[in-house]
Amino acid sequence: MIEIIRLNQDWLFCPKNLRNGQHTSCNEKLFTRVTLPHMNPLLPWHDFDEKTYQSVSWYRRWFRPSPRWKGNRVRLAFDGVMIAAQVWINNQYIGEHKGGYTPFTFDITDHLAWNKNNLIAVCVDSRERPDIPPCGGLIDYLLFAGIYRDVRLEILPSVYIADVFAKPRLNNLETDILITNTTADTVCTSVSIRLGGNAVRENVEVAAHSSRTVSLNLDHLDVKPWSLDAPQLYTLQTALRSCDKVSTRIGFREARFEKDGRFYLNGTPVKLIGLDRHQTFPYVGGAMPDRVQARDADILKYELGLNIVRTSHYPQSPAFLNRCDEIGLLVFEELPGWQHIGDEAWKEISKQELREMILRDRNHPSIVLWGVRINESRDDHDFYTETNRIAHELDPTRQTGGVRYFQESEFLEDVFTFNDFSNDVQIPKNRPHLITEFNGHMFPTKSFDQEERLIEHALRHARIQNKQMGMDEVAGAIGWCAFDYNTHAEFGSGDRICYHGVMDIFRFPKFAAHFYKSQRNPKYGYVLEPASHLKIGERSGGGFDPLYVFSNCETVEIWVDNKCYGSYEPDRENFPHLPHPPFRCSGFATWGHRCADIEFRGKVNGKVVIKKLIAGDGVSQKLYLAADDYVLNADGSDCTRVVFGLTDPFGNFLPYATGSVFFSLIGPAEIIGENPFALVAGRGAVWMKAGTRPGEAILRAEKKGLPPKEIKVRIRKKD
Ligand code: GAL
Repeated sequence: MIEIIRLNQDWLFCPKNLRNGQHTSCNEKLFTRVTLPHMNPLLPWHDFDEKTYQSVSWYRRWFRPSPRWKGNRVRLAFDGVMIAAQVWINNQYIGEHKGGYTPFTFDITDHLAWNKNNLIAVCVDSRERPDIPPCGGLIDYLLFAGIYRDVRLEILPSVYIADVFAKPRLNNLETDILITNTTADTVCTSVSIRLGGNAVRENVEVAAHSSRTVSLNLDHLDVKPWSLDAPQLYTLQTALRSCDKVSTRIGFREARFEKDGRFYLNGTPVKLIGLDRHQTFPYVGGAMPDRVQARDADILKYELGLNIVRTSHYPQSPAFLNRCDEIGLLVFEELPGWQHIGDEAWKEISKQELREMILRDRNHPSIVLWGVRINESRDDHDFYTETNRIAHELDPTRQTGGVRYFQESEFLEDVFTFNDFSNDVQIPKNRPHLITEFNGHMFPTKSFDQEERLIEHALRHARIQNKQMGMDEVAGAIGWCAFDYNTHAEFGSGDRICYHGVMDIFRFPKFAAHFYKSQRNPKYGYVLEPASHLKIGERSGGGFDPLYVFSNCETVEIWVDNKCYGSYEPDRENFPHLPHPPFRCSGFATWGHRCADIEFRGKVNGKVVIKKLIAGDGVSQKLYLAADDYVLNADGSDCTRVVFGLTDPFGNFLPYATGSVFFSLIGPAEIIGENPFALVAGRGAVWMKAGTRPGEAILRAEKKGLPPKEIKVRIRKKD
């Protein structure tokens, strides 16, 4: 690749279906200037009609080809357009792509006009078209709309490296390099790979207007393995003699689900503990930039202590997967779909999406399994024989799974991936067995539910994870799900949300999130979270006994007025298999006690390593305001979450605090979200989106009756 030109800024967008949207002469007065990732219209976080964005719209982008590109190939690359895109360059139709979750490119070299402005016009069909997977039946999530991922121009030499598939094992590397010759002559060149000080080269002849694959290997490499705790990554350099080079990030690891039921990473069994993730966010659906998509991986690994995520039910953003590679979070990635299988033409698109997913993602060390069945669909012998064949052909290094919810279904894959909603763990039938969903709709729980429900929600996750951890014949369990998500009218609570997450849609924890976090290795930090608001009259009958505390400490103490009311051990009797069983504390609080502050102390080796104070007085004392990031790139799309809420004096959100927070913003940024924002469980979030000018953005939050708060975010020029 000679050059990559990011093409996210300066798009023109028209929410209507125009008859001449592709024409250079089209009246652009109907268009507004937008930056990608883009979705229209912005939505409330819940309580909206999903029909509002299901329409046909137009995007246009003018650009001037650089004289530098002459003699090279120019490719237009889209990372994701929901759900179908037709593309024109300078009035000429160049093609269509169906499927909103996978990338596509067009070679536009022969359509370019030099020394003048060129026009890319894209007609985007965001209706839920029954001919395109996952559509055709009901779906329990929203697809949203628009050009919601990045767009680039890629400048390539006329003979170029079209693809590098790296197959790293523990100390050797096999590669398949696809070389494309777009010229009218046979080309003799040499191709080489280099990893640190190791290199190998081979001469190769590529016939005119054709492609061929060359396999090169490196053996006896002195490399560190990619593991969960030390996810070592390497950069493989592939070069064609003096004309093209490509860098590929790889990791050396061996990942296998074995017949004994266990999952092995680099030869060592690893019990998998995970959650399913949808890639969508409030207000914009999937149209969040890399920083925000990547941050979800950090939440899953560090705030929830997980070692695996399932990208339910489609290929997710490249930024998210890159981050999983960097931090050591395993991924089960699956093709788009939800229960429905369409006709033969539909299946062809589905197979194409599968190919596009694997070709895009097969160099990610974090991905350990391909999902090759439509989630929870009926058996279809021919279709699934073929999807398994495609996956094995494109990637012989990885196993396949296919998510189903009945044990009797035909087993064509390598791993039996099973949605187990029995509220228990069904006994596997002598084959690699991974639980890919549990809980979910069996116990929807809102962050503002009464605490007894929040506690039971957390314990249901704890019980299943405990049980599966005691069963060697189960590789692991991935629960439904990480975050609440927007969904269709036919699902969820009627306000377009499925409240199935252990975190809410803004990524705030419910008690179940505290349970997961408490399972994390203390080297990532101690955890000490009572699963109670500790208010005497909240539960039926009063009091808050028993009190569950989620912690990875050895002992938990409860102190009131400098007096220790009890010292507690983890509940090993009921949760013998968890690394850190919940603490079940009882016998210290009854109806009528003075509302004293309560202090929790977590101890390891007899020393206090973490404390948590909860105010007895449940009335709001402070307005809290913080951003996830305080420096953003001035690229017009970079974003960070801004969280706020009402807290007690010790910084704990008050779950029944309501009212509205009002925002004002000065500087080169905008707010994505509701303003004013009516608090949800005492808290909320909007996103701050950078403009294209550098400077300082000051966000001020006000809530009647409390002193206002301000934060400053630096918007910096992008390097
Ligand atoms: C499953 C489905 C998920 C979600 C979940 C809710 O059947 O695969 O997408 O709908 O139920 O519990």
